[in-house]
Amino acid sequence: MTNEWWREAVFYQIYPRSFSDSNGDGIGDLRGVLNRIDYLKDLGIDALWLSPFFPSPQVDAGYDVSDYRNVDPLFGTLEDFDELVHACHARNIKVTIDIVPNHCSNQHELFKAAVLAGPNSPERELFHFREGRGEHGEIAPSNWTSAFGGPSWTRITEPDGTQGQWYYHLFDSSQPDFNWEHPAVIAEFENTFRFWLDRGVDGFRIDVSDALIKDTSFADTDGGYPLIPKDDTCSIHDIYRKFREIMNQYDGDRMAVIETGAEDEIVALFIRPDEMHLAFNFHFLKSAWGADLIKHAIEQSLSANAIVGASTTWVIDNHDNPRSVTRYASTTHLDGHYVPAVYTDLNEQDIEAGKLRSRAMALLMLSLPGAAYIYNGQELELPNVDDLPNEVLQDPVFFRTNGEQKGRDGCRVPMPWSGTQSPFGFGPDQSQPWLPMPNYWGDLSVETQLQNGASALNFYRRLLALRRQMPVLRQGTVTIEESGNPNVVKILRENVGAKVLIITNFGDESYFVHDDLAKKTLIASNPTDNPYEVTGNSTVLIEIN
Ligand code: GLC
Ligand code: CA
Repeated sequence: MTNEWWREAVFYQIYPRSFSDSNGDGIGDLRGVLNRIDYLKDLGIDALWLSPFFPSPQVDAGYDVSDYRNVDPLFGTLEDFDELVHACHARNIKVTIDIVPNHCSNQHELFKAAVLAGPNSPERELFHFREGRGEHGEIAPSNWTSAFGGPSWTRITEPDGTQGQWYYHLFDSSQPDFNWEHPAVIAEFENTFRFWLDRGVDGFRIDVSDALIKDTSFADTDGGYPLIPKDDTCSIHDIYRKFREIMNQYDGDRMAVIETGAEDEIVALFIRPDEMHLAFNFHFLKSAWGADLIKHAIEQSLSANAIVGASTTWVIDNHDNPRSVTRYASTTHLDGHYVPAVYTDLNEQDIEAGKLRSRAMALLMLSLPGAAYIYNGQELELPNVDDLPNEVLQDPVFFRTNGEQKGRDGCRVPMPWSGTQSPFGFGPDQSQPWLPMPNYWGDLSVETQLQNGASALNFYRRLLALRRQMPVLRQGTVTIEESGNPNVVKILRENVGAKVLIITNFGDESYFVHDDLAKKTLIASNPTDNPYEVTGNSTVLIEIN
C-alpha cells in the first residue's frame, strides 16, 4: 500500500451557494468560504471538495457549465479562488474541485457554435445531434428519457429559423451531452484539467463519470435510457487513462474521485492504478439503516476495491440525496435501498432516531480504512428540509417531473452559523438566503453547537482529532466478528499492532459487551455511564490490547 495523502483523507464537500454568503445577495460564495476557513481548520478535515463555481446560467445549480476555466461572478473571481487555494494550503488543507465532463450548458461557446454552424457541420459533431423521426422530423430520434424526468431530446431552431435537428441530454434540456468519441472534446477537457492543475488544485471530483460513452444508436428502449456495460470492453476506460496521464505529469499526488452509481465490481475498474484514484461508495450511502445492509456494503466495497489495490471511500451525505438524519429517520426501504424523492411517504419519521443513527454511521465510517467525505451541514446534523414551499424550489427535477418529485433542494438549504433568526449568519443580517431557512435552525447553528460539549459539531471535531492521532482508524484490516446479536455489527480493526473494535448497534435495545474485553472506550456516538453498554442506534469505538 502506498501512502498518497488521498488514500485516507477526510474530504469536506462545500456546496458553494449554501455555505457562506459574503456580500448579502443570498448566495454563498468563495469569499464566504475564505471567511470561514478557520472553522474548517478547527473541524479537522484534510481537504475540500468545492461543487461547481464556474460561469453558468445556474439551471442545475452550476452543473450546467458555460465556461470551465473561470469563476462565475456570483461566486467571485479567479483571484478569490487563488486566494482560497493559498489560504487552504497554508493550513494544510487540500483543495479539490468539480469537473463536469458529460455535458455543458447550452450557453457554452461550443454548443452555441454548434447550433449556429448548422446540420452536418464539424461543430455539431462535438455533441449528439440527430434528425427527428416522422414526416417533418417532429418526433424525437428515440424514446430515451432524461434522468431528471421528461424526454432526453430537445429540438433546436436552425439558424434559418426552421425547426431542425434534436440534441441529446441525459439531464436538463439546458445540459447538452458531449460526444466523447470526438478528439476535440478530449482536448477541451485536457485544457481544463491543466488550467486548474496549474493553479494548484490538488484534485477533482468527476461528475457523472460513467455516462461519457453512450450507445449512440440511441435505439428505442422499453423505458428510460440504456446504460451500456462499463466493463473492460468499454472505451470509457481509455478516457480515464488519458486523464490519469495528465495528472501524473504534476507533482504532489493530484487525484480524482469519480461519481458513478455502478455496482462495486464495475466501480473498481475505474479506480485501477492507471485510471482514477477514488470512487464514491454509493452502495454505502444508499443502504438503508440495518445491520445486514450496512455490513454487506462494507464487505462488498472493500473486497471489490482490494482486487485493484484501491482505497475505499465512505460517504453518507451529499448534495443529491436527502440528508442522512432524515433518511435514517425512516426504516422503510425497498430492496435495502431508500427510495429518493418519495421516501418521506413510505412511513413515519423519527428525526431524533435519525440523528442518533447518522452519528452512529459517522463514527462507523470514520473508523474504517480509506477516505471519507463529509457534506457541509452533516457535522451539524441538519435534517432534510422537506417542507420547502413549491414557489421556492429550484431543482430542475421538480420542474421536469411536473412537481411529482420535489427534487434535491431540501438537502441544499444554507448553513446556519449564528444568531436567532434567518439568515442565521449565513449572510449579513436581513439578507434573504436563496432557500428559506427553518425558524428553529438557530438551535442547530455552529455558534449554538460550539457551546454544547455534547453537540454533533463537537462530536465530529473530537472524532476527526482522534482519527488523526490513531492511524488504525484510517488504515489496516477489517474483520467482521460474530456479535451474537443480528442487529449488532462488530468489526475488528487492526493496524501494525494497534487494535480497535467498532460496535454498531442497529437495534433499539442496548447491547452489552463482555467484560473480558480489556475495555477502553475511545469514543461513543451516544455515551452512557455504563462502560459496557452500547445503546440502541449507536456506535462505540473500543481500544483493545
Ligand atoms: C451529478 C451531480 C448532480 C447534477 C448531475 C448533472 O449527479 O452531482 O448534482 O445535477 O450530476 O450534472
Ligand atoms: Ca454572495
